[in-house]
Order: sequence, then C-alpha cells, then structure tokens
Amino acid sequence: MELIDTHCHLTFEQLAGDIEAVVDRSRAAGVVGWITVGTDPEQNRKAVELANRFENMYAAVGIHPHDAKDVTAGTMAELKELARSEKVVAIGEMGLDFHYDFSPQQDQRRVFETQLEIARELNLPVIIHCREAFDETIDILEQFIGVKGRLKGVVFHCFSGSARQARIVLDHGFYISFTGVVTFKNAEKTREAVKIVPADRLMLETDCPYMSPAPMRKQKINEPALMIHTARFLAELKEMDPADFARAVTAAGKSFFDLP
Ligand code: NI
Repeated sequence: MELIDTHCHLTFEQLAGDIEAVVDRSRAAGVVGWITVGTDPEQNRKAVELANRFENMYAAVGIHPHDAKDVTAGTMAELKELARSEKVVAIGEMGLDFHYDFSPQQDQRRVFETQLEIARELNLPVIIHCREAFDETIDILEQFIGVKGRLKGVVFHCFSGSARQARIVLDHGFYISFTGVVTFKNAEKTREAVKIVPADRLMLETDCPYMSPAPMRKQKINEPALMIHTARFLAELKEMDPADFARAVTAAGKSFFDLP
C-alpha cells in the first residue's frame, strides 16, 4: 500500500519536535506522502517551511474558522503571498464552525469567502472544515461558484455527516475526506455515508495529532503511520480489496491536489 495523508498538522507541537521519527514511521507503514495543513498565519509559515524540508511533503495554507476574528487585510495579503510558494497545493483549512463559535459567524463567513477568492485567483483547490454548518457552507460555495465560476477543487475534510449530506457534496462535484473518526463506535451515521462515496472521490487523512483511529485510540497523539488502520477499515466497509482501495484513493488524492 502506498497512501497519502491528505490532511495532517505536522507543525503542531505534539508532532513537530519529533518530526524525523514521525516521518520515518509513516514511510515504514506505507504512508509516503503528506499534506500538512496550516490553520493560522504562524502555522501556515511553519507548514511551508516543513514541506520544503521533505520529499513528497506539501502544504496547504489557510485560516481556520476558529481564528476568523483575528483576521485583518494584512493577514490575507500574507496568506496570498505564501500560497504562491512552490509546495503549496491548496488553500485551507477554511470554512464554518458553528459548534464552537470561537469566532462570530459573520467573521467566519467573511474570512471563508476571502479565501475562496484567493483560491480561485491562484487556481488552487480548497479544503473545507465544516461543523454544524452544513447548509450554510454549501450555500456559500454555491453562491461563490454561481457568481465567479468553478473552483479548481473542493474537499470536505474530516467528513462526519450523513449519507444525505454526502450525496449533496458529491452532486456538486466535490470530494469527501475521512479520518479515523469513521472507526469510532458512535460513527454509524458516517459509515452509512462512506458506502455511497465512490473510491475515486474519496480521500484519506489523519487530521493528526488528533483522533487516533481504532484500534489505536489509546495512542493519544495521532500520527500519519496510524492512517493504515483507517484505510483497512474503509476498504472492508466498501467491500474492496485493500490494495485496490489504496490505489484508488491515492490516485484521487494525487489528482485532486495535482501532485506529481
Ligand atoms: Ni485539520
């Protein structure tokens, strides 16, 4: 199996201090590519620096909805400049989080829309974080695309919605990415969603350092090597040969992010 962790936070302190070992364990497990995702200006800079150090490591730069309240025009100018770096393959994570509401909803919307503008201008795909804001997120994407035209690509990351919501995402031509959350006991609704997502529109991620998949949930700090558990679990759920499943989702990730 050769897999790509399409959404990890390797610059977060839980992993950054031990990054060489994290990458070695990942490669040994068959997870041989990484997209390390920024969430605020500091993490974005670190993500690009880290991606520059490792072969087959790429970066996404974006402002998480939690941090929307702190965004100024300068933040966005810097983001756009950084996004032109060679190893940046996407804008994100971005979106709406009405579960925590750490930033006022109007700030979340404004910052989301500005990032969509940047992605469109630079012709980069976008990584969407969406929590308890599904209809609102789809609305913003529809309106944006209606006025400005298609985006290069849209992926709903760490998808934990229903099959009905997955259908809506797929019908828009977007991709869906799953974390180890699908292996959790209480994720029956999300497992129903997995069944309707074709393997060529599905991506795998850890979202580490968070959310280790079963049966490794005791490992408090998740890391890319553990993604193989999620991969095997999903292959079984989709009744596919693990190698065929891995080939399909790796191809989907490479095509979505335009990786060599
Ligand atoms: Ni994330």
